[in-house]
Amino acid sequence: MITVNVNASKEYKILIDNDLLKDTGELVCNIYPPCKAVIITDDIVDSFYAGTVQTSLEKSGFSTHKYVFKNGESSKSIQTLTDILEFLAQCKLSRSDLIIALGGGVVGDIAGFCASIYLRGIKFIQIPTTFLSAIDSSVGGKTGVNLESGKNLVGAFWQPSLVICDYSTLNTLPEDVFASGVAEAVKYGVISSKKLFDEIANNDISSNIEQIISECVSIKRDIVNEDEFDLGTRQLLNFGHTIGHCIEKQSNFKITHGHAVAIGMCIISKASFKSGLCDYDCTPEIINVLEKYNLPTVSPFDAKTLFATAVSDKKRMGDTITLVIPQKIGKCVLHKMEINKLCDFISLGL
Ligand SMILES: NC(=O)c1ccc[n+]([C@@H]2O[C@H](COP(=O)([O-])OP(=O)(O)OC[C@H]3O[C@@H](n4cnc5c(N)ncnc54)[C@H](O)[C@@H]3O)[C@@H](O)[C@H]2O)c1
Repeated sequence: MITVNVNASKEYKILIDNDLLKDTGELVCNIYPPCKAVIITDDIVDSFYAGTVQTSLEKSGFSTHKYVFKNGESSKSIQTLTDILEFLAQCKLSRSDLIIALGGGVVGDIAGFCASIYLRGIKFIQIPTTFLSAIDSSVGGKTGVNLESGKNLVGAFWQPSLVICDYSTLNTLPEDVFASGVAEAVKYGVISSKKLFDEIANNDISSNIEQIISECVSIKRDIVNEDEFDLGTRQLLNFGHTIGHCIEKQSNFKITHGHAVAIGMCIISKASFKSGLCDYDCTPEIINVLEKYNLPTVSPFDAKTLFATAVSDKKRMGDTITLVIPQKIGKCVLHKMEINKLCDFISLGL
């Protein structure tokens, strides 16, 4: 097993191994005595994995309840949030009890946000089951839901107490859902590690999955340890996300998060080079690796449409927006741009 330690406002471990779900009860017992645990998951993950997690928890003395919602980004809403909070109250979950987020980024984000506000905050554990959630969303404590007006506009920083990453769960992922996570892995390579980027570009990710997960979460851990509340360095993790979120939203979430980020990374690198914000063009290398994993690289929307959505992005600060500019593979910088220049900038990247 690989263990990565996070030392943010809360210290916790990320445990990475094959076939860990059956040990959930024991692993949780290592940090908390048996209590009531509410498993929050979606209908697809429920059908594959909730039984194993629930049985293991019960065997270790936890009493369990389960809340299942329909899979997909449209469930990451205020409505689902309210429904889950009512369920937690009906289960009489107390501050000494526990929430378990079992699933992809949608489950992790909404379950984590419930944990942050229910009774003004209770403990929660992340059990990621998509590649994206394993390498990104389960770590770092960003939780939240979408509004009609945009992605992740309501949320809180709330760290999990433990992350149990059983990568054997990735075997049941549809190819395009796995690829969605690859986009985030490529992101880590571009912002912080040429070595990781080359590993992804030159090998088959699946053949070295444990190592890749560990490298990605270690990069995220370092960034979160330095800037947990997203005031500086952590914004580098948004590479490709400003435009990505617009594409995701404009497509009505038919284009998934990772696929949208893939396109966003291509647009931002091309525009950065063409506008003179950097003097090396990373775009061809990024496009090559994304195409290798069947990820999209071209926006179906024009600059005006993307700009209109970007204006409501939470990364906007007054009249400026912070963009992540790749200087070379493995090194990005933050750049503040006046919002009225963004539309022309996006056009350069299309
Ligand atoms: N909090 C963060 O730091 C952070 C970071 C990146 C992304 N996100 C968020 O993560 C979300 C995307 O996450 P995602 O890509 O995991 O999507 P997701 O949670 O919607 O999962 C994608 C699909 O895969 C299914 N699935 C999950 N695990 C499975 C498995 N093991 N086998 C078969 N099917 C499985 C789900 O039911 C769903 O249909 C977005 O909402 C994004 O905003 C959050």
